[in-house]
Amino acid sequence: MIQQANRLEHVQEYYFSTKLQEVRALSASGKDIINLGIGSPDLPPPQQVIDGLNFALTHPVAHQYQPYKGTADFRNAIKEFYQTYYRVELNAETQILPLMGSKEGITHISMAFLNEGDEVLIPNPGYPTYTAVTKMVGANAIYYELKEEDNWCPDLDEIGKRDLSRVKMMWVNYPHMPTGASANDKLFEDLVKFAKKHRILIINDNPYSFILNDHPKSILEAEGAMDVVLELNSLSKSFNMAGWRIGMVCGNEKNLNTILKVKTNMDSGMFYPLQAGAAEALRLPEEWFIAQNKIYEGRKSRILKLAAALNCKPAKDQTGMFVWAKIPEGVTSEEFVNNLLYTHSIFTAPGFIFGSQGEGYVRFSLCATDANIDRAIERIKL
Ligand SMILES: Cc1ncc(COP(=O)(O)O)c(C=O)c1O
Repeated sequence: MIQQANRLEHVQEYYFSTKLQEVRALSASGKDIINLGIGSPDLPPPQQVIDGLNFALTHPVAHQYQPYKGTADFRNAIKEFYQTYYRVELNAETQILPLMGSKEGITHISMAFLNEGDEVLIPNPGYPTYTAVTKMVGANAIYYELKEEDNWCPDLDEIGKRDLSRVKMMWVNYPHMPTGASANDKLFEDLVKFAKKHRILIINDNPYSFILNDHPKSILEAEGAMDVVLELNSLSKSFNMAGWRIGMVCGNEKNLNTILKVKTNMDSGMFYPLQAGAAEALRLPEEWFIAQNKIYEGRKSRILKLAAALNCKPAKDQTGMFVWAKIPEGVTSEEFVNNLLYTHSIFTAPGFIFGSQGEGYVRFSLCATDANIDRAIERIKL
């Protein structure tokens, strides 16, 4: 038996990778499972995107290796997108690097900047991949707690009092998953000051800014951000293109060149038609987001009814693709979710998988049809 690498000693398989096998087995045994667990958009991407991809399939270079830094047209589309929606001016040649989904960027960035023993500040609750990848590269995950009473925003004064001498990077993620909290301008400005003061690279992971959010924001809008910040972004949620695996990292040329040292040794460019289709998406008018959000609004109002029927209490003013809600006292989030799964055949995400601060909460996904959410409500009321 060949032993696994030491770097995997403290890394678990992703929760959904194993839990969804259990959910599939229940479906296979005849259970009609309503999946409100994962944030995989069920709605179709824009038709222009499909047409763009199809058209590009016959381009003379379509099936050749593509530039490591993405095509010029795709990078220009990202530049225009940041200009239009975030009021951020980027240099398409030097400050934009397309990625195959923002998730791979978390690994690339960690491999590019972290040595063994370096410390990384990670939100609790937060996206589990930050911790897994930190451990995989031999760095140490140091958590900062987010609390409902602080609207799930970090207490930078408290964090600043700690010994940060070994901290090299900090992950932030606004709009925040799983809580749906938003950052205001001041938080982004304070984060930039914090990064400069403590010589920390801050990365804002920003895939949710167009879902049920009236004011999309980028941390790169903050004064001086380009010196100390990177931002990950993605087409997965904004354009229902999760399976395409398309995202980007934006930041200064020096940092992007460091990431390229990793990336150019891991892949050999992104399929040309995917880039052509993605460029179409980024150039769509605002009406796309308005139409999408109308659908999500209808779903959210139903999920709020479902949450109420389950005696769960969601915080107000949440953005993004989920509803995050406090569960009734007396059960753990795992018990709550398993009970819902095995009693009512409804799958949701337990808060504990996002960290200890997520215990006591459940996350409902809006990636389900109105009809399915209505059926879930009926099952609870019966
Ligand atoms: C906070 C957060 N970051 C990153 C990702 C990954 O997105 P992508 O599909 O661009 O890799 C997700 C996906 O669920 C997410 O929730």
